[in-house]
Amino acid sequence: MASRIAAVALLAAVAAKAQHNYSSPPYPTTTPASYSTTTFNFSAASTYLPLTDFSNEQLAFLWDQVGPIQTATLTTTASPTPEPTDFPKPNFVHPLVPAYIPEVADAKLPDDFLWGVASAAFQVEGAVDAEGKGPSVWDLIPHRWVNSIADNTTGDVAANEYYLYKQDNARLKALGIQSYSFTLAWTRFFPFGRGPVNEQGVAHYDDLFTDIEANGIKSVVTLFHWDTPLALFNSYGAWTSEDIVADYVNYAKYAIMRYDKYVTAWYTFNEPQYCNWRFSNYPFGTILPSYNGIGTGGLRAQYLCGHYTLLAHATIYKWYKNVYKGTKPMTFKNSANYIIANSSSAADQEAVQRVNDYNMGWYGGVWTNGGDYPASLKDTLGDILPVYTQAQKDLIAGAADFYAIDAYTTLYAAAPPNGIAACVANRSDPNYPQCATTTQLQPNGFPAGPNADAGATWLYSTPGGVRPFLSFITKEYFPKVKSIVVSEFGFADPAEASFNTLEQILWDLRRADYMQSFLDNILAARVLDGVNVTGAFAWAIYDNFEWNSGLGTKFGLQYVNNTSYERYPKASMFQFLNWFKLHGEDKTATANITAPVGKRMPSMLNMS
Ligand code: BGC
Repeated sequence: MASRIAAVALLAAVAAKAQHNYSSPPYPTTTPASYSTTTFNFSAASTYLPLTDFSNEQLAFLWDQVGPIQTATLTTTASPTPEPTDFPKPNFVHPLVPAYIPEVADAKLPDDFLWGVASAAFQVEGAVDAEGKGPSVWDLIPHRWVNSIADNTTGDVAANEYYLYKQDNARLKALGIQSYSFTLAWTRFFPFGRGPVNEQGVAHYDDLFTDIEANGIKSVVTLFHWDTPLALFNSYGAWTSEDIVADYVNYAKYAIMRYDKYVTAWYTFNEPQYCNWRFSNYPFGTILPSYNGIGTGGLRAQYLCGHYTLLAHATIYKWYKNVYKGTKPMTFKNSANYIIANSSSAADQEAVQRVNDYNMGWYGGVWTNGGDYPASLKDTLGDILPVYTQAQKDLIAGAADFYAIDAYTTLYAAAPPNGIAACVANRSDPNYPQCATTTQLQPNGFPAGPNADAGATWLYSTPGGVRPFLSFITKEYFPKVKSIVVSEFGFADPAEASFNTLEQILWDLRRADYMQSFLDNILAARVLDGVNVTGAFAWAIYDNFEWNSGLGTKFGLQYVNNTSYERYPKASMFQFLNWFKLHGEDKTATANITAPVGKRMPSMLNMS
């Protein structure tokens, strides 16, 4: 393909020629014979574009597709600044939220319980076109898909973590956080998704890993958090093509070989369930090309995406264990919620099963069904669901060391009004293929818990759900699971973005309450219910770019000032830290701190 510079020169030459020939009327009304014409329809593209030119011009072409990028005011790596020895925090005038479950007031977690805060590259890094990075589909979406982001913000700068990571790591250390769960951006390593490695991107992550380690923090690393290289959409439709497996594996091997020594646990993928509510809704056939018969997206795109994602996961897992002989635990993170039947009817019980199958079960071949899909997917979806060969099922079965669940909330499930059978038989049914409805309302109509921000209508604070959920996953749904990590949980307080001052922002009561209760319930699952929970990570390290809700929906345990990029710990951060002071592996915890609930003096709820 011609380079961009050559193309521009060619256009200029054509324009000059046109001026020369037709500078005065009459202009021709038909195309002169020396030109050829055609009718273009790029959304009807059906063949792969070759991805063989990895030149600077091609990279510039990709960034032209995204459009102009906003640059931060700070574009060099900032040195850490001295951290306070004691942070401003709540005191007795409004103490932290008290404990919820008296039976676990004195319970302790084992030393190796993994805990900390989480983030994702696209949501925090910014600097999206810096140092040779290629665009991901998420760089494109806010720029080109009109009104796709609720507040029309972009991830161009986000929290500017790309330049502020040394300060962020120093902050994690000062706060006493054990582990940091973060993600790597594929297009910083491989700007085109494949091809040559971008040395500047690697140098950046080299520095990030060594700095995290120097601060005494454990790295828990996700290789893919939805930021698929744009070039792979252009070339073959990304996750709708089997070609993505080799490209992902090539990237993942590189990152693993380089950073394995720094990493405490690996996640190959963040929430492959996003193939449903996110990937299948991408603008295929308009802003993104449509290959592999997916039309404008929908079910076919969804299930191809899931199929190749699980294959990519299993391929890298088996390589890591059997060829590379890696010793760190590896799995992928799941997105699912605790599901309660809306009534005791058999139909509503079946609805619960269907919701679980269409979320966790879809990727459950690792732990059940010999590597295959659940019967409720195969029976309902028929030829929409791709088929795994026996060799692929063998690859998938057993391809994980533990289960990871991003368990944000609880939902009630019911059979659809027209019944499950009618829905299953009709691909046009609005509830097809899950054929079960969910709600955040209890059967009596009362909300299951306090609501979150308007940018997270799916989220209600229902921390009591996580305790039975952990038992359900490990004892009933996937009894082969040996241990489970709550890899994300978090809350977006309503209308937080409308608060203008720190004094309005910092005492985030709903998030603090959610943290306390969620952690109490995780602990109860472990010590009272015998579930082998081995980790818990709060989303998020600080406010960030919340996908289609943009910068205005805030999940941070720290506030980020989007002008100065300063970070300020909110009350929820101290609630979280205080909880681990009481129950964590901290051997310096004193007897006073574990005083029985009800006898605790307010001052003892302080961190220091
Ligand atoms: C995702 C995060 C997201 C969070 C809150 C999780 O499902 O992994 O990227 O920001 O939920 O919506």
